Amino acid sequence: MNSTLIESLKQRRTQYALGRNVSLDNDALTHLIKEAIRHTPSSFNSQSSRAVILFGGQSEKFWSLTKQELSTIVPAEAFAPTAAKLDSFAAGVGTVLFYEDQAVVDGMQKQFALYAENFPVWSEQSGGMAQFAVWLALTEAGLGASLQHYNPVADDATRQEWNVPVSWKLRAQMPFGSHEAGFGDKAFMADEQRFIVKG
Ligand SMILES: Cc1cc2nc3c(=O)[nH]c(=O)nc-3n(C[C@H](O)[C@H](O)[C@H](O)COP(=O)(O)O)c2cc1C
Repeated sequence: MNSTLIESLKQRRTQYALGRNVSLDNDALTHLIKEAIRHTPSSFNSQSSRAVILFGGQSEKFWSLTKQELSTIVPAEAFAPTAAKLDSFAAGVGTVLFYEDQAVVDGMQKQFALYAENFPVWSEQSGGMAQFAVWLALTEAGLGASLQHYNPVADDATRQEWNVPVSWKLRAQMPFGSHEAGFGDKAFMADEQRFIVKG
């Protein structure tokens, strides 16, 4: 059985070397990212995932704000590699900021008290699925991306800059752009350690 999905799964890799040689325009990419998030499942169809989609100068602004915040906590002598890393994220076409809306989580906890303790976990799981769906959609469109976690350092500055609702909690960032380098080999653990199959 040939599966195009499995082929796409194999093609999705962490790409740090990003550029701007992308033929899709911002509208097409925005549509792709929205569709990927829209069609991601969520507990009770609660749709707690949110995204801020930044292109060009706005994406650069995010990484510059993050750099500014990090410069206050990373020791000066160790800052150069951090700054270079953030610059490599800013070199792409854009960045998706992934949020989970805590107002939705609170509402679900009140509405379904029996499952109250599960909703924060399910929100995280659903958010992870949304991140993966976007990563895969970008892969199929021929773009490279990586998954970053500069939260909570970037939360406040970002909230102010783009007027993000207070109930949205920043969970991950995905810089994306053209592939400007290949990938190294990836090691996989043995199936025997990973799967139990019966019947
Ligand atoms: C939940 C999760 C968190 C991750 N966090 C980071 C991160 O903060 N920074 C980063 O560079 N990569 C991060 N990654 C990427 C992984 O390191 C990467 O997917 C893994 O090493 C496998 O490599 P591949 O993506 O090329 O298949 C994360 C991946 C996942 C699934």
